[in-house]
Amino acid sequence: MNWKRTHYCGTVNKELVGQAVTLNGWVNRRRDLGGLIFIDLRDRTGLVQIVCSPEVLSEEQYRLAEGLRQEYVVSVSGVVRPRPEGQANPNLATGEIEVDVQSLEILAESKTPPFPVDRAADVDDTLLLRYRYLDLRRQPLQETIAARHRIVHYVRNFLDSHGFLEIETPMLTKSTPEGARDYIVPSRVHHGKFYALPQSPQMFKQLLMIAGFERYYQIARCFRDEDLRADRQPEFTQIDLEMSFVEAEDIMNLMEEMMIGLVKAITGREVPAPIPRISWAEAMLRYGSDKPDTRFGMEIVDVTDSVSQSQFRVFAAAIAAGGVVRGLNAKGCGAKFSRREIDNLVEEAEKYGAKGLIWINVGEGEIKSPIAKFLSEQETTAILRKLQAESGDLLLLVADAAPTAADVLGRLRLSLGKQLGLIDENRCDFIWVTDWPLFEYSEEEGRWVAAHHPFTAPHDEDLGILATDQRNVRAKAYDLVLNGIELGGGSIRISRKEVQMKMFEALGLSEAEVQEKFGFFLEAFEYGAPPHGGIAFGLDRLVMLLTGRDSIRDVIAFPKTTSAMDLMVGAPSAVSPQQLRELKLNLKLEEN
Ligand code: AMO
Ligand code: AMP
Repeated sequence: MNWKRTHYCGTVNKELVGQAVTLNGWVNRRRDLGGLIFIDLRDRTGLVQIVCSPEVLSEEQYRLAEGLRQEYVVSVSGVVRPRPEGQANPNLATGEIEVDVQSLEILAESKTPPFPVDRAADVDDTLLLRYRYLDLRRQPLQETIAARHRIVHYVRNFLDSHGFLEIETPMLTKSTPEGARDYIVPSRVHHGKFYALPQSPQMFKQLLMIAGFERYYQIARCFRDEDLRADRQPEFTQIDLEMSFVEAEDIMNLMEEMMIGLVKAITGREVPAPIPRISWAEAMLRYGSDKPDTRFGMEIVDVTDSVSQSQFRVFAAAIAAGGVVRGLNAKGCGAKFSRREIDNLVEEAEKYGAKGLIWINVGEGEIKSPIAKFLSEQETTAILRKLQAESGDLLLLVADAAPTAADVLGRLRLSLGKQLGLIDENRCDFIWVTDWPLFEYSEEEGRWVAAHHPFTAPHDEDLGILATDQRNVRAKAYDLVLNGIELGGGSIRISRKEVQMKMFEALGLSEAEVQEKFGFFLEAFEYGAPPHGGIAFGLDRLVMLLTGRDSIRDVIAFPKTTSAMDLMVGAPSAVSPQQLRELKLNLKLEEN
């Protein structure tokens, strides 16, 4: 029998009525009704109803149809016909027709699957991951993986048409600093030595600029051994690129064109150009976050100046310690929230690390607040004015060191935005966050570390304070944020060796450490390094946002669990004594 398909299941429509078709696919569901056997046949394009009738099929063929079970792979040939009056299914693309089967062949049988493929949503996660190839048969996952392909395809075309070359860089390499732990691979040939899997192609792409390729990109797999969350995987993919003879402006402009085109191509949505830009300092002030969700307002306002002479202990103490008083206006919540709900907000703020939360309930001609009596009329008026308070509003204030005040109010803002339904899920709000600090202080390590990676260039005006006033050095770095999620980040790089050396010095690396870790890299800068810069986007996050999924696992064909395991293949796993002998490794696990 000839089982080669003529059409895909999801494409059989009214126009084919009367025609003979051959379809291949999986049995999604089978129903027997008064001698007729109805089967939903599924392939990656969708479902189509096929009907097996004892009047049409030979006895042998009919018996085959009776034996069909879920997930059997079959080929059927038959004639397309309209469904009988009143039986059309408007929810199905092929819902107006059915295929009257004339012959069928079973290409593969299937055991009863551990979960029904079309109803996988409420099945235990570990089971879904253990049988990922079955879960992947589900239409939403099929569509997401296909969308991922289209996104990569679009990006490749765009970059190709702008003169970028796709160049692969090594997976077995040396540590690339991106702030996470490395995955390491032992060498068989060089006993006791290890390769590191790349956290990003950062150094290689810079070396490609020194090599004169001018415009590089790669759909690059990256490996980071860090604590996982809903938007993080231990191995993930970046759209990674680098350009020579450019400034930050050039890179942002080009990337913005790519993103706007991509969103249009994938979702049909128009994102207005240009994408707004905000400095890191302003983002922290107004949104309390370095990845602001700009789909709604409720911006944070600094009222320190208005209460700088305040007698109120909490404000006075915070300001005396160099801190700030900031607040936000939860519009209408004064009238809406019960005392209990307001108390919950205070608790929430404390959970975020605040010492407390001052609330001011703005009534009609009357102010309710636990601190009303501590504030002068002038102070109260100034606060109300700055926060543009109207009757019915609820003002929430935090007095603390600036980073804490920003963080607490930023999180409160997001939480209230969700709670009050202020976030329009259909919006696609991009924003560039620019001029990041070059350094951040690591409490854990007790020193300044690179906020991005150590190759990011400082602002020219801040070169003088590079190794002396780390707190205030700004970087030529930019992040692209979409709906409050960091999509990508990049920077102009240091292209002069002496600046790079100064940077390492500021990070507290010794000469010897620098030589050992980056000697090869620094040497390259002595042979004519062009000014260059680049960016990397998290492809998985991008796909997740453009397909409206809320877990990064949904957009990766074979993802890992939050404890970095692949439940299907069973990785990580022990290796054989033979393999260890070859590596000259002797395993002695420490108890913790
Ligand atoms: P960065 O470390 O900011 O920059 O990474 C770029 C983007 O990669 C995504 N990303 C991740 N996605 C999933 N799982 C993870 N564990 C994960 N970690 C990062 C994020 C992030 O914005 N070399 C620099 C780029 C450059 O300077 O050009 C870099 O790697 O979306
Ligand atoms: P206390 O005297 O510590 O009980 O605080 C008096 C009021 O000020 C309470 O409503 C606290 O929630 C609030 N509060 C205390 N510290 C802060 C702070 N740093 N920022 C905002 N509110 C605070």
